[in-house]
Formats: sequence, structure tokens, C-alpha cells
Amino acid sequence: MPTPKPCSNSATHTGGSPTSLPCWMRFAAVLDAIATFERSLVTTGSRFDRWLLGEADAITPEELSGYQLFKSLGCVSCHQGVNVGGNLFQRHGIFHPLGSPEPVLLRVPSLRNVATTAPYFHDGSAPTLPEAVKLMGIAQLDRVLTEPQIAAIVAFLNTLTGTYRGQLVRPASTTPRLGPALR
Ligand code: HEC
Repeated sequence: MPTPKPCSNSATHTGGSPTSLPCWMRFAAVLDAIATFERSLVTTGSRFDRWLLGEADAITPEELSGYQLFKSLGCVSCHQGVNVGGNLFQRHGIFHPLGSPEPVLLRVPSLRNVATTAPYFHDGSAPTLPEAVKLMGIAQLDRVLTEPQIAAIVAFLNTLTGTYRGQLVRPASTTPRLGPALR
């Protein structure tokens, strides 16, 4: 592959290979490629999505009670919107410390597929989802959640596991590798 020319403002030549495009065109093409790639990562089709679309038995009564707790306790004030998070920056450890203090501000993570992405938090300090939920209650809401509350919220979070290319999203360690180069 030819070495790309440096991206300078004086690059105005428009013919030939992509690397000889003007700088702004190459920049736009890169943005376009990233946006297209990110759109391909949206994983819908979770049981929770199906329930929202009206399939009443897509989630169990315990999972539903977990969703109601998620709303009534106030988790939803930060983990909100179509991705159940991902659209706000917040301090972590508002009431009690949560893992390492830096960085102070974090993007509230989306909780889609959260059951497949242990360990949790910016420093990986919570090994399991029940532990992460318990610590969130203490750190962000000053609430000590009961074991049944934690179990119900975890059950709800499990309904947020979506599908990608027709398959249920799985933890990275159980995803088959494509070939030797990726092992
Ligand atoms: C004030 C805002 C706020 C509230 C309220 C809140 N969270 Fe969070 N949540 C965050 C932030 C910020 C992080 C990232 C923390 C980190 O990475 O250290 C996070 C992380 C998490 C994670 C780990 C996600 C991951 O991929 O690492 C889970 C699970 C979670 N929250 C669940 C909950 C639950 C359940 C509640 C309600 C009991 C709740 N959160 C309430 C802001 C909040």
C-alpha cells in the first residue's frame, strides 16, 4: 500500500488514488467510515426491546420488578435513553468512593449487553454484575440494596443482552475466534 501523503492544507490534487484526495475529503471519508462502523455495532433485539415493543411475556415478573426498581431507585437518572446510559458525563463515587478516584468524571456507561462485559467499572474493580449493582447503590445513590433487590436488578440487566448479526451477544471469552491471526 502506498504511504499516505501528509495531510496539509496545500493538498488540492483530486485525481488518482484515495491518498491523493484533498485533506478535507479524506477526513470526511474517515468520519463516514467510523460512523458507518459504529452503526453496525448497535445491538437491538434484546428481550427488553421485545418487551418494550409489546411482547408481554418477553421478560419474567422478577425481571420486570428489577426494571421497576431500576426506575424507582433512580438508576435511570444516569443510565437513561435508548442505550440505558452513554449520554451523560457524571462523577463516580458521589456518596462513597468507587474504585480508584481518577478520572473524576466518567461517561455513564450504556448498560446494553452489560451482562457480557465483566469485570466492571473504569478500573475493573467489580468482578461480577451483582457486585457492581451493589456498589452503584452505595456509591451513586447512598442506598444499601437488599439481596433480593440486587438479584432483581441483575435479572433485569440480563434482559438487555441483544443480538449482533443474528446471534445473541456473548462474553468475549466465549466468542469463537475467526482465525489464527486473531488468537
Ligand atoms: C449519578 C449517576 C449514576 C447513578 C444514579 C447510577 N449509576 Fe451506574 N454508573 C454511573 C457511572 C458514572 C458509572 C461508571 C463507573 C466507573 O466506571 O467507575 C456507572 C457504572 C455502572 C455499571 C458498570 C457498567 C460497566 O460496564 O462497567 C453498572 C452495572 C451500573 N452502573 C448499574 C447501576 C445501577 C443498577 C444503578 C442503580 C442502583 C446505577 N448504576 C446508578 C453512574 C450512575
